[in-house]
Amino acid sequence: MSVTTRQENNVGFVEIDNAPVNAIGLSVRQGLLEAVGWAERLMLERVIVHGRGGMFAAGADAREFDAPPVEPHLPDVLNAIDKSFVPWVAAIDGVALGGGAEIALACRMRIMTPSARIGFPEVTLGVIPGAGGTQRLPHVVGLANSLEIISGGKPLTAQAALDIGLIHDIDDDALHGAFMVNTEELGCVVPAQDLPAPVADPEVFARARKQVSLKSPGQHAPRRAIDVIETTIGLPIDEGLAIERQTFLELRDSDQAKSLRHLFFAERNTKLPADVVTDSAELVHVAVVGGGTMGSGIAYALLNAGLTVTILETDDAGVQRANANVNSIVEASLKRGLIDRLGADTRLARFNATTNYSSVSDATLAIEAAFESMDVKRVVFAALEKALPADAILASNTSYLDVNDIASAVSDPTRVIGLHFFAPAHIMKLLEVVRGDETSDIALVTCFTLAKRLRKIPVTVGVCDGFVGNRILARYREAADTVFMDGSTPWDIDEAMVEFGYAMGPYTAQDLSGLDIAHANRRRQDATRDPERRYIPIADRMVELGKLGRKTGAGWYRYPDGTGRVDDPIVADLGIEEAHFAGIKRVDYDADEIRERLLLAMINEAADILHEGIARSAADIDLVTVFGYGFPRWRGGLMHYADSLGVSDIVLKLQKLQNEDGIAWRVSPLLMRCAEQGIKIRDAV
Ligand code: 3HC
Repeated sequence: MSVTTRQENNVGFVEIDNAPVNAIGLSVRQGLLEAVGWAERLMLERVIVHGRGGMFAAGADAREFDAPPVEPHLPDVLNAIDKSFVPWVAAIDGVALGGGAEIALACRMRIMTPSARIGFPEVTLGVIPGAGGTQRLPHVVGLANSLEIISGGKPLTAQAALDIGLIHDIDDDALHGAFMVNTEELGCVVPAQDLPAPVADPEVFARARKQVSLKSPGQHAPRRAIDVIETTIGLPIDEGLAIERQTFLELRDSDQAKSLRHLFFAERNTKLPADVVTDSAELVHVAVVGGGTMGSGIAYALLNAGLTVTILETDDAGVQRANANVNSIVEASLKRGLIDRLGADTRLARFNATTNYSSVSDATLAIEAAFESMDVKRVVFAALEKALPADAILASNTSYLDVNDIASAVSDPTRVIGLHFFAPAHIMKLLEVVRGDETSDIALVTCFTLAKRLRKIPVTVGVCDGFVGNRILARYREAADTVFMDGSTPWDIDEAMVEFGYAMGPYTAQDLSGLDIAHANRRRQDATRDPERRYIPIADRMVELGKLGRKTGAGWYRYPDGTGRVDDPIVADLGIEEAHFAGIKRVDYDADEIRERLLLAMINEAADILHEGIARSAADIDLVTVFGYGFPRWRGGLMHYADSLGVSDIVLKLQKLQNEDGIAWRVSPLLMRCAEQGIKIRDAV
């Protein structure tokens, strides 16, 4: 049973019981509807609805969204609750999200535990509330609040919900609180839908629309939510509900919603390879080598997960810098209200920075975040081998270097693994877990489990230059530079990719990170680069000119006052000049052509990555591109997007480009196979 009922005196208790998150699927809807009749037959004085397992309800069951809706529909169930002569009270523990919050709104009163959260995250799944959220919420919390809550999708704490009148009380024991509500008081509460509708202030709608275009560019659902509220405000509830429902169902079937659902489940579905069944090693004390931006971010993420952390540095200045870096992250978290003073103190009490490797003799994991040089890494790993227990796991945070080479610096290479964090390491959710040829199962399981403990998305990848993310990024940049040299400008290319949905284009992004990093990589790759492959020299010229990005005041753009950005005609001339030297007749690419080339280049590279077994699934590549590299979330990730274009079409376009450059545009064998077999990329491995 997904809903159980019991009676105590004249009070009915209705428990939603659908582990793990009490998602509101068909059986829950049926159970709730039956409970309405049950309470009325027994002429109960009130019904208290709550969730089993410390969780009210996480919303409609999104796994049902790919099939046609089945009766009873949630809006009808909630109408029955709303109109029942037996008043319902919601006792909210854990979360009441989406449909869960809509159940609560259909109740006469809402009581929450202090740590519970309530909200409408539907837009993050590409839909709008579909069971009365857009209709009842404005009546309860006013227009501006409801527009912000529904179009922003961010859940509220119990206190914030109380402050705006969304709930009636906070109680450590919400069930008891609901039981204790005075019967007369309950009888006087006006149902949400009978409260007066707020005034439809055009300025409030305009502000909400502006906010959405800033925060969710390209996404349909937040805009549609605002439209629905504007259209239906003041309409009779049944008319409003019908418009809301129609919009919800339309959006549910849209490409954006399908893409967002795909990512929602992919994010939760990252798994270890099936043949890896070992238990994780126990982690208490972790050593981090290097206290720069990356090392201190990693250290803070580990402290957050309750671990003891020692940063190892080479000299006293390094120790001071590590201490300062970690302290400043702690202070920033404190300021943002993410932790309290006690939390800050307990984290710092578990932290130490030192030059003394003997202080990590009991650490069972070390994560090296030192300078990106094979010589440096090998020295560090040899030192770690001496300092840590013989079975401790030794991880490198390298972004590009060969984990197998690093592993050969120690006598037991099975202990070595790559853990590619993304900056800032305590915030970015992606973690590439790099499995070397010799990496042991226990090292893999321990790092994967650690990633989950850090609340990150672990993606297991194999060894190659740049692993999954940076390898695709390198091809993206190469394609961009080629387009630039052959007939465009960095700003036109950036604009084309922003129109596609990236928060910034490849040149703006490179100016932020610095052109020197990619330059060092190109020099490292000189020895192994295919001499036949066309080389685009513009980025090297930029480095020769000292244009390294924002930090030097000029990169692909100029930053005359440190922040404001202007296009740089000298940079545009570099493209023209290099094309002239190479005897290339430049063409004028429009935004569609630019986008097509850059996206096809990435798709083709990603298909090779899948073909070579570096990534284990197309969904893993989607996670890497969205959570590490800014691919628009609402497009579902690179491979999901490719499947939506259709593989046969992609192959035809790549074959056409092959006529221009047979090496750069060689079509991936995996794409050829998918096209021949008529299958999607996601089904290819
Ligand atoms: N539908 C189906 N399954 C869901 C789900 C949902 N709404 N929410 C969570 N799950 C599943 C997850 O896929 C996962 O399954 P798995 O164990 O098989 O991998 C399991 O529940 C646990 O989820 P998490 O790993 O995310 O657990 P956490 O404890 O980290 O987080 C949570 C719990 C905060 C509830 C989080 O899962 C969440 O935010 N869920 C989505 C909430 C949401 O978007 N609700 C709106 C749905 S749309 C709607 O309600 C429309 C309505 O207006 C008609």
